[in-house]
Amino acid sequence: MKILGILGSPRIGGNSDLLLDQALAGAKEAGAEVEKINLCQKKISGCLDCTKCNEAGVCAIKDDMQALYPKILEADAIIHSVPVYFWAMTAQMKAYLDRWCAFFDAEWKWHKHYYPKMKGKKIGLITVCGDTNVHTADPIVHSFKNTADFTKLKYIGAVMASAGGKGEIAKDAKAKKEAYELGKKAAQ
Ligand SMILES: Cc1cc2nc3c(=O)[nH]c(=O)nc-3n(C[C@H](O)[C@H](O)[C@H](O)COP(=O)(O)O)c2cc1C
Repeated sequence: MKILGILGSPRIGGNSDLLLDQALAGAKEAGAEVEKINLCQKKISGCLDCTKCNEAGVCAIKDDMQALYPKILEADAIIHSVPVYFWAMTAQMKAYLDRWCAFFDAEWKWHKHYYPKMKGKKIGLITVCGDTNVHTADPIVHSFKNTADFTKLKYIGAVMASAGGKGEIAKDAKAKKEAYELGKKAAQ
């Protein structure tokens, strides 16, 4: 069982990072092999809609996303952790997500060679916002949940937390527990 953690915050050691670590600790405790990717340390361009991937399923943009595609394919579950920036996900996470385009054909169906690996793959989400109302992150949940539903991935839920200062989430026992449980769920 392989669990991939994708961090969409540029703040290493920040709130999304701490909660992702909790989730990966939960996954590890459940026996999974875990790996974390910090998107801010990668050079990942947005999708160019060049449609070159429609035939072969290979993205034409030669950047750090190329090394991530096989990790996504091999993972049994992927947990994404991202803060809210202007009522949406961060640019780093959006660029990464848009590049999933390469997995699909022109009809937005999985390329047949990817389908066996992607079908039923578990997708989890962690959001953090500065607002005290965690539902400020609803647009991010909407994006990931709809992506999962549309493509027959298995959406395993979201942990939605609120924190402003760097690492402030460390004081939020409830959010940490929920993230840990999300990680365990991903590994089961
Ligand atoms: C550019 C930017 C935009 C932000 N926009 C929002 C926002 O629209 N709503 C909100 O609740 N918090 C917003 N925040 C606050 C972050 O979501 C909050 O500080 C969060 O804890 C950061 O998580 P991190 O430590 O994982 O980076 C914004 C922060 C930045 C830097």
